[in-house]
Amino acid sequence: MQAISEVIPVLSSVDNYYNSVPAVLDRVETITGKSLKRYECDIRNREGLEKVFAETSPQAVIHFAGLKAVGESSKLPLMYYENNISGSVVLFEVMEKFNCKKIVFSSSATVYGNNPIPYKETMPTGDVSNPYGRTKHFIEQILGDVYKADNTWSISLLRYFNPIGAHESGLIGEDPNGIPNNLMPFISRVAIGKLPQLTVFGGDYDTKDGTCIRDYIHVVDLAKAHLCAVAKILDTTGINAYNIGNGVGYSVLDIINAFEKTTGQKLNYIIGDRRAGDLPAFYADATKANTELGWKAQYDIDKMCIDTWNFQTKNPDGIK
Ligand code: UFG
Repeated sequence: MQAISEVIPVLSSVDNYYNSVPAVLDRVETITGKSLKRYECDIRNREGLEKVFAETSPQAVIHFAGLKAVGESSKLPLMYYENNISGSVVLFEVMEKFNCKKIVFSSSATVYGNNPIPYKETMPTGDVSNPYGRTKHFIEQILGDVYKADNTWSISLLRYFNPIGAHESGLIGEDPNGIPNNLMPFISRVAIGKLPQLTVFGGDYDTKDGTCIRDYIHVVDLAKAHLCAVAKILDTTGINAYNIGNGVGYSVLDIINAFEKTTGQKLNYIIGDRRAGDLPAFYADATKANTELGWKAQYDIDKMCIDTWNFQTKNPDGIK
């Protein structure tokens, strides 16, 4: 695996800080030992993006910008379509204008909808149950059309499974605003006493212990997949989707047990009703990322729990 400075010698960040704070970037600089050129700019702001491209002449873009709360997307679909899809179109147009045609896009396993497991990149996509997931699917389709029209583009679609964990320094990790929607930040906030109880959404699925199965992946493994993808697109043209997962399914109870075992914290939880829209079980076949990107997940769920807890205890009130 190449170091970040070998793959990306000069790095700029563009963020509207809707779900983040600039202090996170100070910490990224501490971890990487590299300075970042920072721009506060919304992805829908064409003029702002053009200024960034004019000043930095990027070789490639890693596109993470997007809203990501599944439940919220069903209540506010237009906000999701406007932000995620319109914003992406503005970005792609600006890229084209500045002749920067290399992009890694942050997609999601959600694009597979209901398919047999393990999910493979060759499976059909688009049978998605919520607007958030549909934005990921549509953006993949848009990039497919962009490539069809101009095959000098080089596009990598990374289909994330369930990223959890934190950097082992405890400097950066998941710090959602308000009450977390996702399992791991909910668990760590219950463990630290900020939330009273975890509800396990459903104990009557047709799985080994009745709870849903997911493919959890350490966020540092996920970050490394981006470096591998950037290295690949810099040298090639084409469009490719890659599953970024461990290839192993763990149940909600597996995660709770691993968290309790590795941190020594007893979790207060109950088994509640199913959450609408949850699939019983899915996990990745990540062979393609291994073969074509030279990437493979290294960390197991114990490490994911340890690093989550380390981040939570070092940042009980989040990153300010
Ligand atoms: N869960 C609980 N209690 C909670 C939160 C979650 O039991 O309080 C369960 C869910 O029912 C699910 C599992 O924990 O079985 C994981 O749930 P998350 O909300 O953490 O993750 P999802 O699998 O629902 O969704 C994640 C990402 C989406 C992405 C999707 C598909 O959040 O962005 O994976 O890859 F689209």
